[in-house]
Amino acid sequence: MRFMDLRVKEKELREEIEEVFREILDTGQYVGGHFIEEFEAEFAAWLGVKHVISVSSGTDALKYALWALDLKPGDEVITTPLTFIATAEAIALLGARPVFVDVEPDTFLIDPGKIEEAITEKTKAILPVHLFGAVADMDRINEIARKHDLAVVEDAAQAHGAMYKGRKAGSLGLSSTFSYYPTKNLSAFGEAGAVATNSGEIAERVFMLKNHGQKGAYYSVFIGENGRMDALQAGILLKKMKYIDGWNQKRRELAKKYIEELSDIDEIKFQKIPEGVQSVYHLFVILHPRRDQLKEELEKIGIPARIYYQVPLHLQPAFSYLGYKKGDFPVAEKISSELLALPVGPWMRDEDVKEVSQGLKKIILGI
Ligand SMILES: Cc1ncc(COP(=O)(O)O)c(C=O)c1O
Repeated sequence: MRFMDLRVKEKELREEIEEVFREILDTGQYVGGHFIEEFEAEFAAWLGVKHVISVSSGTDALKYALWALDLKPGDEVITTPLTFIATAEAIALLGARPVFVDVEPDTFLIDPGKIEEAITEKTKAILPVHLFGAVADMDRINEIARKHDLAVVEDAAQAHGAMYKGRKAGSLGLSSTFSYYPTKNLSAFGEAGAVATNSGEIAERVFMLKNHGQKGAYYSVFIGENGRMDALQAGILLKKMKYIDGWNQKRRELAKKYIEELSDIDEIKFQKIPEGVQSVYHLFVILHPRRDQLKEELEKIGIPARIYYQVPLHLQPAFSYLGYKKGDFPVAEKISSELLALPVGPWMRDEDVKEVSQGLKKIILGI
C-alpha cells in the first residue's frame, strides 16, 4: 500500500488534462491567459469570495497576503507552532516576528483562549492554520481581531472545501491562502497557490505584488516579485475543480471508517473535529504514546505511516532567534511527539482502511 498515490487515474480527467497540454503546446500561451482567469473565477465562486489571485505556491500566497497588510519590521503576527514551516517563514521573510500561541489539545488548532495574552502593541495580524483539513475557531478569532483591530489571514493550504458553520474555510478572514502542491486536496502538477479575499484593495495589492508591483506594462508602483502561477497549472486545476467535492467526500468516508475501526483502541486518540466544522481530512492523524515504535512496526507489515511536524516551529533551529525554549508550548510539543498520519486519499479503497486498522489492532492489542 502507498501512503499517497498522486497518479491521475480517472480516465475522463486524464483526457481533460491532456487537452490542456495540447492547447498550451498549440498556442504557446505559457503565462497568463484564459486558464488563469477561468480558474481564479471558478475557485472564487466555489469558495464564496469575490477575488482569487493565483500565485506560484502556498508559501508565496502567505507572503503576499501578509505583505499586502504592509507589515513593518518588528510587527508581530500571531500563529500556531504546530504547522508546516512556511506559515511562520512567510511572517519572518517580511521582517515581521512570528509570535506563537499553543494549540488546543483535542483539535490541534490554535487555542483562541490563549491569543489575547499574546497581543502587544506591535501585533498586526492573526494567522490561524486549518490543520489537517479541520477549521480553526474563526468566530472567536475574528472577534478578538475586531476587538484589537487586527487582520486575520487564514492559512487554508490543507483545507480546500472544509466547512465552518456552513461557509468554506478560506472565506472567513480578511484574506486566506491556499497551496496546490501535488499532495494537497486540490493539486497542481508542481508548485502553485492562491490568495483569496473579499477585499478589492488586498486583491489589487496581491495581484501587483506577484507581478513586480506593476500597474500596467513595465510600470512598477512598488517593489514586488515574480510570483505568478503558470498557465499549465491553472488549466490542470481548472479541470480538477469538478472532482474536488467528490474527492473530499471520499476522504470523509475513509476517515469515518478509520474512526469506526479504531475507536476501541484506548491508546489511540483522534483529532477532534469541532462542532460546526466539516473536515476535509487532508491528513488522517492519530496520537499514540509510542508513536515511533508504532510507525516502525507498521512498516514491518507493509503499512506506510508518516510523522508530521515532529519539531514544532518554536523549537526549529531556523527560529532559535525568537528565543523560545522547550516547554513554552507544551500542548503542541506533546502532539508533535505522538502524531502519526495514516494513509488517506481518494485513491484508497475501504479494504485499505481495514488493512491499516487490522495492522494497528494487531500491534497495539495483539489481536
Ligand atoms: C499549512 C501549510 N501552509 C503553507 C504551505 C506551503 O505551501 P507550498 O508548499 O505550496 O509553498 C503548506 C504546504 O506545503 C502547508 O501545509
